[in-house]
Amino acid sequence: MRLWKRNPLPLVLLAAAFTAPVAYADPLAPGRALFKQSAVPACALCHALKDAGAEGAIGPSLDELKPDAARVAKALRNGIGQMPAYRDKLTEQQIETLSRYVARASGAQR
Ligand code: HEC
Repeated sequence: MRLWKRNPLPLVLLAAAFTAPVAYADPLAPGRALFKQSAVPACALCHALKDAGAEGAIGPSLDELKPDAARVAKALRNGIGQMPAYRDKLTEQQIETLSRYVARASGAQR
């Protein structure tokens, strides 16, 4: 105990070791970040999705539509109606991450 008072470093390292993995443990986090900001223009501007705190009303509510990942990916690659295509803005990997995220966050797929 007295040792820790003089040198708190071991405690700090211990705390870091336990908290750091938690920050990355949410499997939806990367897709959520794409949805909220990294995809430009952001999906959240036009779509409602509770998981992302998004309330956009230009496109359909994804909570209600519950598109599966294939349907999201198709909209992202080709665009649909007023929605721009993201094929040139996102990598194939980002499109997949985002598609899986929307499908899971909307409850369409687990
Ligand atoms: C500028 C506004 C806008 C932005 C930004 C936008 N969308 Fe859309 N989105 C729409 C509109 C409008 C529709 C309805 C198109 C139609 O059915 O004519 C739509 C439709 C969709 C659909 C349904 C496709 C289908 O098959 O019916 C999905 C899924 C979707 N958007 C996901 C996304 C995702 C994910 C992003 C972010 C990368 C995004 N949208 C960004 C406006 C937008």
